[in-house]
Amino acid sequence: MSGRRVAYVNGRFVRHADAAVHIEDRGYQFADGVYEVWAVFGGRLADAPGHFARLRRSLGELRIAEPMGEAALKIVLAETLRRNRIVDGLLYLQVNRGVAPRDHAFPDPGVKPSVIVTARAIDLAAGEAKAALGVAVISTPENRWGRCDIKTVGLLPNVLAKQAAREAGAVEAWFVDELGLVTEGASSNAWIVDADGVLRTRDIQANILRGVTRQSVLRLIGEAGLALDERPFTIAEAKAAREAFITGAGSLVLPVVRIDGAAVGDGAPGPVAKRLRTFYMAEARRLAA
Ligand code: PDD
Repeated sequence: MSGRRVAYVNGRFVRHADAAVHIEDRGYQFADGVYEVWAVFGGRLADAPGHFARLRRSLGELRIAEPMGEAALKIVLAETLRRNRIVDGLLYLQVNRGVAPRDHAFPDPGVKPSVIVTARAIDLAAGEAKAALGVAVISTPENRWGRCDIKTVGLLPNVLAKQAAREAGAVEAWFVDELGLVTEGASSNAWIVDADGVLRTRDIQANILRGVTRQSVLRLIGEAGLALDERPFTIAEAKAAREAFITGAGSLVLPVVRIDGAAVGDGAPGPVAKRLRTFYMAEARRLAA
């Protein structure tokens, strides 16, 4: 299987093992680029429109030219899935400012943006088993820049936070700002069902990524008529919550059962998180495009 893996690199499909970018690619030199990750169900993209909209926004905020129209990009993404025979998996797209002699300011005249796409299969059954048990998170001080709303490939604080989580036997790290409030996870948005039974997650005016999965889950919460308050919470509130969970293209809706070593609720995935996971999976499959 791995022998057949292919990647899209700047206009060509190449063997994954041979896929490479130039040493003066600005993604490599400066993390001067953006990315998106889609969950893939049945060979189709989950939450496709939300990810395309955020991609456009991220590129616009960084003044990186759109490398191709959305229709053409969709063809490239679909072709990457097809050539890799992905049924259920993850699709990764990076667009960066392109290849130019190393100079911090933008290349002038501008160069063509670099575009790379990779895809990999995921084991849905293993994901379900993980969700059935729930996962642990740790907290870590927020130390990222002020534009976490842009999905840039500059992820070093996220990398270090995730590694700290792994070393603590956890799967995610929640960043906590200077007011003691959780912003989000290293690669997911953070949620609780508080002691009063109200769903809480950070609002998007805060310095967080506007998660596409978060947005879909908000819609499902509305449809289900569950109590919601987009209001931040502290780690103490999360530990005292009935439930906690994370959302993201990688985690989907994943129950959190331990925070910094303390059990949340009875230490097992809660009913609201389980229900939202089931709803989300069904809707994401139904709407996958
Ligand atoms: N991460 N917050 C951060 C910091 C993220 O990196 C992500 C996604 C999310 C969730 O966003 P969405 O629901 O749109 O996937 C929130 C991706 C999956 C990654 O870095 O692999």
